[in-house]
Amino acid sequence: MRHVLVLNGPNLNLLGVREPEVYGSATLADIGALCRAEGLLLGLVVDFRQTNAEHEMLAWIHAARGVYNAIAINAAAWTHTSIALHDALKTFDGPVVEVHLSEPMEREAFRHTSYIEPLAAARFAGMGPEGYVRALAWIAQSERPGP
Ligand code: DQA
Repeated sequence: MRHVLVLNGPNLNLLGVREPEVYGSATLADIGALCRAEGLLLGLVVDFRQTNAEHEMLAWIHAARGVYNAIAINAAAWTHTSIALHDALKTFDGPVVEVHLSEPMEREAFRHTSYIEPLAAARFAGMGPEGYVRALAWIAQSERPGP
């Protein structure tokens, strides 16, 4: 079985309550359940996590090396700010897939820079929770060898 780490950054714990007109009505728990169910169909073991602490996110990425085959990440606002997250993801030895519920490129200018995109093997944005499903499907079909 291939193991996938699905990471979620700051404020995504408030999904369902936070700006539903932008992010939709699904909660983070709903998306986690969706990912695990989709993982079962695709033959992936999904470890789904969220944190508001950047140091915790960095530690999870450091520990993922040699343990997970791929990372799917919705880095939320850190997408647009964190070179530390970019550097940490670069240490990972499998594919990294960038996910967003909304399409940041169609929103405010400050969301148009992504520090994840230069190292991402694929990107799914603007399709709500379906973006996570598409990321997992991409990983399942990816030929790239993992640990
Ligand atoms: C987001 C988009 C980011 O710009 C924003 O900061 C988020 C969520 C998304 O999923 O659409 O928190 O990553």
